[in-house]
Amino acid sequence: MLSIIGLGFVGLSTAAVLAHKGQKVTGVDIDEKRLTAIKSGVMPFYEPKLEEFLKTSLDNGNLQITQNIEEAIQRTEITFLTVGTPSYSDGRINLSYLENAITSVGNALKNKSDFHLVVVKSTVVPLTTTSMVLPLLEQKSGKKSGIDFGVVVNPEFLKEGSAIDDTLNPHLIVIGSSDSKSGNILENFYKRFYGNEMPELIRTNTNTAELIKYANNAFLSTKISFINMIANMCQQISNVDVEDIAKAIGKDPRIGSQFLKAGPGFGGSCFPKDLNALIKFSESVKYEPTLLKATRDTNENQTSVILNLAEKTMGTVISGKKIAILGLSFKKDTDDVRESVSLKIIKKLIDQSCMVNVHDPMALNNTKKIFSDNISYFDDPFVCMNDCDCCILMVDWDKYKLLEPEQFIKKMKKPVLIDARRVLDPNKFINSSVTFAATGLGFYNNKT
Ligand code: UDX
Repeated sequence: MLSIIGLGFVGLSTAAVLAHKGQKVTGVDIDEKRLTAIKSGVMPFYEPKLEEFLKTSLDNGNLQITQNIEEAIQRTEITFLTVGTPSYSDGRINLSYLENAITSVGNALKNKSDFHLVVVKSTVVPLTTTSMVLPLLEQKSGKKSGIDFGVVVNPEFLKEGSAIDDTLNPHLIVIGSSDSKSGNILENFYKRFYGNEMPELIRTNTNTAELIKYANNAFLSTKISFINMIANMCQQISNVDVEDIAKAIGKDPRIGSQFLKAGPGFGGSCFPKDLNALIKFSESVKYEPTLLKATRDTNENQTSVILNLAEKTMGTVISGKKIAILGLSFKKDTDDVRESVSLKIIKKLIDQSCMVNVHDPMALNNTKKIFSDNISYFDDPFVCMNDCDCCILMVDWDKYKLLEPEQFIKKMKKPVLIDARRVLDPNKFINSSVTFAATGLGFYNNKT
């Protein structure tokens, strides 16, 4: 029997998959409104397959939801901690939710005689488990780690939009433990759970497991900033396309083809936050992380690169123009707008007195919460681009791939299109009367 504390994106997806595959799971969260919504089948965010998985598990009783940590600890043997670890304004990781959860778990362990395993799934900087989690649990419970209870670090690598499939088929399981008994309990749990489909497993200590998660995300972020840097170079020269370069270098097995898609920069609830936290952590241990800082700077500069490209393509300043933004979420197939580059571009456009029209298949409501009536919202991309001076395509939603030059020509004041995400076939647009530019596409800019 398992409990999962923190029913955010990771906690809820993990609870849904474990319960759907037959585990008895108790989900815990302190947010009463969220719990009531989940119990009645209303999802706090959109994630493919999540609603269906949760509904089945709630209906057959495999998943129970409660606010009561004490009760959850008493009735289960393993507790996954999946509370959020957001950033302070200076980028440092904020561990207060985790500290609160650990305090409650520690208090509950006081009254428990059986061995209990605590699994840290929340993303935490190295040394967090040894310097905070373990001592706080010992202090609150009055018990000894490795004897009365155990702690392991077990980071997750799931992506929004494919969280359920990623949890069903992870490419790797990392178990970091300070005592082998605790690591063995979790390893055996996963072996039973995955059976013949058991993924590759790496066992380490807790510090290493904590750093693996950050190194993984920082490497992927760096790969994206690298290809965006090459894309920006391409834009300065003629007859060169970053997509050809990404395709070619991606064939080198030492590089690999994934996360080489040039675009407006990375966003979302993980990459920017984790990069900042790792930079701060590295500085705190007196190592200057120059590469990580370059990754961050390159990413933050992408909004200026896109707006400069728009001005160059329009042949005039953007200030005061009417701009259509297609795509608001931080990537396709989600309504999540956290750290979305689209939103950063919209803020800059508002600052420059632009009239901004926006469209997104899913993220309009979340965007409204941020910009209210400072911009105009459209359910239809064609109505959105009506009478606009420039259209910037920001997200690779599948439906945008079907856009045709005639639709821009018919609707816009002047058909100027910037494909910031490399969604469209450039040849089709360059050979039309649309004035077209795209991230990392050099030759067209040279023609203007
Ligand atoms: C990421 C990690 O992939 C996942 O392993 C971790 O557990 C959480 O953080 P997620 O934030 O869901 O997952 O999104 P991901 O698909 O990784 O994309 C992150 C950002 O990078 C998005 O803004 C995306 O559009 C951008 N991206 C991704 C690119 O710009 N180019 C690429 O080639 C890939």
